[in-house]
Amino acid sequence: MPRRKKIYEGKAKTLFEGPEPGTLVQYFKDDATAFNAEKRDVIEGKGVLNNILSEYFMQGLGDIGVPTHFIRRLNMREQLVRACEIIPLEIIVRNYAAGSISKRLGIDEGTRLPRPIIEYCYKDDALGDPLVSEEHIAAFGWASSQDMDDIVSLALRVNDFMSGVMRAVGIRLVDFKIEIGRVYDGDFQRLIVADEISPDSCRLWDMETDQKLDKDVFRRDLGSLTDAYSEVARRLGVLPKGA
Ligand code: C5P
Repeated sequence: MPRRKKIYEGKAKTLFEGPEPGTLVQYFKDDATAFNAEKRDVIEGKGVLNNILSEYFMQGLGDIGVPTHFIRRLNMREQLVRACEIIPLEIIVRNYAAGSISKRLGIDEGTRLPRPIIEYCYKDDALGDPLVSEEHIAAFGWASSQDMDDIVSLALRVNDFMSGVMRAVGIRLVDFKIEIGRVYDGDFQRLIVADEISPDSCRLWDMETDQKLDKDVFRRDLGSLTDAYSEVARRLGVLPKGA
C-alpha cells in the first residue's frame, strides 16, 4: 500500500490524506499528554479504545441528526473522516464543576452547576489554550455571530446526547470538550462536530462511586488509564476483543 501523506500531527492523533478528495484518515496514537504536554507517556491500547469510543459517540450523534466529520472506522486505529476547516476554539461544556473551573472559581469538584456552562478556549499550544470570551471570538474574527449560535446549539445537543448515553450505563458526564469545523456545500457553509469525543476529552465519573473513568486517571495518577477507558467501552458494549 502506498504511504499516505501526513497532513497534521497532533498530540494524540495524526491526520493523513484520505482516499477521496475531501476526506482524511484520522489515526489514534497511544500517546497521552497532560498539562499542555508537560506530562507525557505512551499508554498501550489507548488509541484503539479512543478510536472505537469516538466512533460510537460520533455515529450516535449522526443518528440523531447532529452533523459530524465521522464517515466510517477503517481499522482498530484509523477512521475515515470528512475534511473540514477547524474553528480555532475548544468548546467546553460543563454540567458539574471539576478541573479548571473549580480552580478558577473556587467551586468544589462535583458540584452540580445551575445549568450547563459553555466556555471557549483559543486553540494555541504555545499559549496553553487560554480561556477567551465571545468578545474575543468576534473581535478577532474566529467565528461569526451566526457561527456562535450554531456552535452553542451543537454543543448543547452533544451534551444532551452524551449525558443520556452515559447516564444509561451509570456514568455521569461531568464535562467535555469538542471541536467544530466548517464544511462547504457550494457557497453554503455548515458546521460539523470534528476531532474526537472520547474519555481523553470528557470527564466521566461512575454515578455510584465517583470513580474517574477519563483522562484525569492519567493527569492525577489514579491508576490504569486503559482499565478506565476499557470500563467505559465495556459498559457501552463496544469493548474490542482482546482489550
Ligand atoms: O481542564 P478543564 O477543566 O478546563 O477541562 C474541561 C474538559 O475539557 C475536560 O473534560 C478535559 O478533558 C477537556 N479538555 C480537552 N482538551 C483540552 C482542554 C480540556 O479535551 N485541551
